Amino acid sequence: MPKNMTGKLYQTLKGKTFETPAIWLMRQAGRYLPEYLETRAKAGSFLDLCYTPELASEVTLQPIRRYGFDAAILFSDILTVPHALGQHLEFAQNHGPQLGELPPLDSVDFSMFHVNLSPVYEAVSTIRAQLNKEGFSSTDLIGFSGAPWTLACYMVDRQGSKDFAKTRIMALTDEPKFQRLVDILVEAISVYLAHQINRGANVIQIFDSWAGVLPPDQFRKWVIAPTQKIVSNLHATHPDTPIIGFPKGAGFLYDEYVKKTGVTAVGLDTQTPPEYAAKNLLPLCPVQGNLDPFTLMAGGAELDHQTDIIKSTFAGKPYIFNLGHGIDKDTPPENVARLIQRVRAA
Ligand code: CP3
Repeated sequence: MPKNMTGKLYQTLKGKTFETPAIWLMRQAGRYLPEYLETRAKAGSFLDLCYTPELASEVTLQPIRRYGFDAAILFSDILTVPHALGQHLEFAQNHGPQLGELPPLDSVDFSMFHVNLSPVYEAVSTIRAQLNKEGFSSTDLIGFSGAPWTLACYMVDRQGSKDFAKTRIMALTDEPKFQRLVDILVEAISVYLAHQINRGANVIQIFDSWAGVLPPDQFRKWVIAPTQKIVSNLHATHPDTPIIGFPKGAGFLYDEYVKKTGVTAVGLDTQTPPEYAAKNLLPLCPVQGNLDPFTLMAGGAELDHQTDIIKSTFAGKPYIFNLGHGIDKDTPPENVARLIQRVRAA
């Protein structure tokens, strides 16, 4: 890992403060950008785009060239991990992800897992080299994974859902089997992230998009405990690499998540009041978030107003500007330019 990689995001995660915050946006590469749609058409399918290092690198760099974000995020998807574990995966047009049957959990072939993910590792190296080549050597590169709970939701329910009922019921009625699945995911994700760091990612984010469907005891068991294990595995092998946890919907459990998992920083979802986070989470770690993606889509004076509120709430603290969830495909690209200008204005 390049030891000189210390951009504004990385330094904020080490506790440094700046006059204006570092900014990147979840899903900053994607369908709201015409240049993304063009590259995606060239790739054929979304998964082909993820597994072709040159094209994944190209779409990763598009928002960096257009807006100069402080960080690039590897272009891939959280569902490549179940795919690499042997579960069939398809993204049907306008239907979201569809997965095949849960693969057998008694024998996981980790050498095949890494072979399957080698195009993703290759993409990380390609992106780092390309950033440097195009004059973005101080732009941080974020590697990522889904968290065990969120990946298990897709693996057991086998498609997107609003409550992931099948997964919830499996966790309650066949705990040994569910625990086995989560244990495999902890191991797989730990080595997957370590490989991304080895190839040039200098910051990690763990997406737990469905953390918010669980009651407190289950949240502790399936969100906090597995995430804590991944964090401690990575800290043992890569002690310098900061890890941002994003437990979407954690609500009252946000502070317990931060204290018990050991994440370096925490991503706030749209519902978390900035003043709550400033009071209760900032004393514990740097925070990231949490502009409403639809306020960004709507634009105008309200976008400026909400941006200013968030900025002033976290001013002078180790804070990273982001959305509270991924950018929506119908967002006008000029609203993103307006946002960045506002965030960077002194
Ligand atoms: O942030 C980035 O720019 C990096 C790339 C990235 C994607 N997905 C690209 C993508 C990241 C970090 C993700 C994470 C992801 N994927 C999450 C966690 C974050 C969240 O949104 O809660 C989840 C739950 C997924 C699973 C997933 N991938 C779904 C449910 C869908 C379909 C929904 C949709 O928007 O169509 C995807 C597809 C996907 N992943 C797209 C992109 C750009 C759209 C694919 C396309 O081009 O059609």
